[in-house]
Amino acid sequence: MEAEMDNIMVIGATGQIGSELTPALREKYGNESVVATYLLTEEPDEELARGPLEKLNILNRDRMAGLIEKYDIDSVFNLAAILSAKGEKFPAKAFQVNVSGFFDLLELGRKFDLTRIMIPSSIGVFGPEVPTKNAPNETVLRPTSMYGVTKVTDELLGNYYFQKFGLDVRGLRLPGIISSKTLPGGGTTDYAVEVFYEAIKEGHYTFFVREDTTLPLMYMPDCVKSLIDLAEADLDNLEHHCDFNVSSMSFSAGELARKIEEFIPGFTYDFQPDERQEIADSWPNSIDDSPAREEWSWKPNYGLESMVKDMIEKLEAKLQ
Ligand code: SER
Repeated sequence: MEAEMDNIMVIGATGQIGSELTPALREKYGNESVVATYLLTEEPDEELARGPLEKLNILNRDRMAGLIEKYDIDSVFNLAAILSAKGEKFPAKAFQVNVSGFFDLLELGRKFDLTRIMIPSSIGVFGPEVPTKNAPNETVLRPTSMYGVTKVTDELLGNYYFQKFGLDVRGLRLPGIISSKTLPGGGTTDYAVEVFYEAIKEGHYTFFVREDTTLPLMYMPDCVKSLIDLAEADLDNLEHHCDFNVSSMSFSAGELARKIEEFIPGFTYDFQPDERQEIADSWPNSIDDSPAREEWSWKPNYGLESMVKDMIEKLEAKLQ
């Protein structure tokens, strides 16, 4: 049976995903039904101020509880996270934000009887033992990054809270997300976004991974669609809960550069791998998402060509 999402809270609404998911949720559910929350250090844009807007650090459990009460929240999208590269620099912080913050949210989910909690997981859950091509949904999860460790923990916690307490927690393993509105921060797949900005502004980009580095990637409209589609899926059809692979496209850094060059003639690039290469090398090249396709009809709309074309159009308009 499908539970209603009447009052939704987004945690991390100013981040890469939150800044596009929040307006999409408001479009669907109404401005007043979606509370955007953001960290004290970030400045929200006008679009986010079109509905309820509140400051929230996920580590402040009392404030999180207060906002759930104040707005009679029934559903939470938790997008607060320290990504993979930053997590290697600040492992304790990554654990606090990605695990302790989420654990508090799960406990509040029980206390306030929330009907839905959504949390992205990541290709970061995979480690070097996993098949690099079409990594299956069910496979050994032994990540070698702190980020991966936190995301595997979140998947296990979410699944446990569903089985033990009936709390409807759902999550999917997102690939690297490419988007034009808000830059990602501290991830390994950030090169796939930065390259567009630098190609348009400077005509040159130095990748921080090797040319042959191939990873699963996804364009933001598909990312937003995947989160909303899973949140709205009929619970009766779900055999998985917090650990769906979702796939869209896979390409190497070199293939991306050459595709951008087709749209921006004269664009030049080179490759100087840094410490993020090791993280990239520990992740699969592509992932198999059959359970998502079977259980909630997941299907992406964008491929490499259509994504690159749309990114360049949007960024050229934005950066003029
Ligand atoms: N984009 C994320 C990262 O690179 C992967 O989930 O950390």
